[in-house]
Amino acid sequence: MKRGTHRGYLVAFEGIDGSGKSTHLKLAARALKEKGFKVTELKEPTEGKWGERIRSLRENEVTPREELDLFLKDRREDVEGNILPALEAGKLVLIDRYYFSTMAYQGARGIDVKQIRRLNEQFAPVPELVIIFDVPVDVGLRRIETNRRSRHYYFERREYLEKVAGIYQQMKAENIVHIDATRPIEVVASEVTEKIEGMIKSPV
Ligand code: ADP
Ligand code: TYD
Repeated sequence: MKRGTHRGYLVAFEGIDGSGKSTHLKLAARALKEKGFKVTELKEPTEGKWGERIRSLRENEVTPREELDLFLKDRREDVEGNILPALEAGKLVLIDRYYFSTMAYQGARGIDVKQIRRLNEQFAPVPELVIIFDVPVDVGLRRIETNRRSRHYYFERREYLEKVAGIYQQMKAENIVHIDATRPIEVVASEVTEKIEGMIKSPV
């Protein structure tokens, strides 16, 4: 779906696990609300039935294609039920993960990244701004110690996330910015707010 057909703004927060997306979404939402913006905060996978199904998946329970299909179903519901209504009401929508996560994570499972993008853009609005939080996989994993359930799990996860990070690194477009998220939280936070305000002043 094309940009610019609605009154609001859509900003996607993207990056590997532990890169700081949810931390910075909350900080940006607070800062922008204080400045008078009408902010809507969203997150994928959602709390809906498909999001629940996704969170209940055991490792290798479904094929990469089936996994892709579940994320697409969840996103369709989110677009129709939450994203489009908020954009049509003129809101500044901040979303923690969007279809760039599908490109990176299901792309890392071997599905063609361009095809994943095409499938999504048939129904999902293209964000005015995509902020990719860049951190090395080790840093992300260290920040979320709970994910280090066992050595085996850790290394498997690490290998997969290296592929995911590689796909994120290759994402470049006029609506995409990469932020060095290894810096202190306050430094990253002010850059995030600055990028969002800058986009609102002169949307691409
Ligand atoms: P994500 O949503 O991308 O998985 P989180 O926002 O949950 O990541 O961050 C994971 C952990 O890393 C949290 O404990 C958070 O406080 C910490 N964190 C986030 N950004 C930074 C940063 N720039 N420097 C240090 N720690 C950070
Ligand atoms: P995540 O944001 O990490 O949820 P939480 O912080 O509550 O654990 O998302 C869960 C996982 O889903 C994460 O590892 C990335 C993955 N994911 C995909 O594989 N494809 C997608 O399209 C999305 C939105 C998420």
